[in-house]
Amino acid sequence: MKNVIVVGATSGIGREVAEIYIRQGCRVGVTGRRKYLLDEIVRTSPAGQVFPQVFDVSAETAAESLAELVERMGGVDICLYSSGYGHTNTALEPSLELGQVDVNAKGFVRCAVWLFNYWADKGLKGHLAVISSVASILPLGVCPSYSATKKFEAFYAQALRQLAVIRDADISITVIKPGFVDTDFIHGRHFPMTIRRGKAAAKIVRAIRRRKKSVVIDGRWAALGLVMRLVPFPLWNWGGRFFRPYKDMF
Ligand SMILES: NC(=O)c1ccc[n+]([C@@H]2O[C@H](COP(=O)([O-])OP(=O)(O)OC[C@H]3O[C@@H](n4cnc5c(N)ncnc54)[C@H](OP(=O)(O)O)[C@@H]3O)[C@@H](O)[C@H]2O)c1
Repeated sequence: MKNVIVVGATSGIGREVAEIYIRQGCRVGVTGRRKYLLDEIVRTSPAGQVFPQVFDVSAETAAESLAELVERMGGVDICLYSSGYGHTNTALEPSLELGQVDVNAKGFVRCAVWLFNYWADKGLKGHLAVISSVASILPLGVCPSYSATKKFEAFYAQALRQLAVIRDADISITVIKPGFVDTDFIHGRHFPMTIRRGKAAAKIVRAIRRRKKSVVIDGRWAALGLVMRLVPFPLWNWGGRFFRPYKDMF
């Protein structure tokens, strides 16, 4: 049975994914800042199967915490990076913009770099998956930092895929792009084309099992994503006027 780590497993998509792997009998490392939620996962799971590690991905010591968890688990085969958050921020409040860079972009790099080198240097097989977003397809004026950091995650992961070839490392990379999912992320708001977190998690686990390179969660978002890719930037910028009612979308 595989050793799986979910970075950002205290709630939402990450928690659902962790619980699927636990039900499948994997040894699962779960991380996040909220210790009481990690303890809850341990309490409700078979003894010895879950390994909690409390850490903030924006801390300089995040990679050390991840290394400690891998050591306690005796290795890791799959890691899903699910830690992240997003805010619409048309007022460009600096701490909101920079906070998302710290968690979504820098936090991902801290974990991805450590894991990549761990697998590559030891000649081990590994699989890194990251939850980006359909918000990465086009730059969104209502949430510049969110859409840019989600693009960063996707692009960085794709670069690591080529680096695996350069370093002759047996490392798979999966980029996951959900649309709206009913987690704390959307603060109970109702958006069209929102899917249940359990459904999103099942699709993510399936995509990882099939070693998909990139997957848009939900066929409707996949179709919309194709259309979004065809929109010329001048038209996209002009269309900003239609986003005015959505300044506080999430
Ligand atoms: N829900 C959606 O509609 C949607 C759509 C597209 C993409 N996504 C992406 O999906 C991922 C998961 O979000 P979700 O929807 O499952 O929301 P969520 O329920 O709010 O989960 C976010 C997770 O990130 C962790 N996290 C946040 N800040 C952290 C930090 N500084 N250090 C460590 N962990 C941190 C949280 O753990 P702690 O708070 O315990 O630290 C939590 O486990 C995010 O990357 C999000 O951008 C979500």
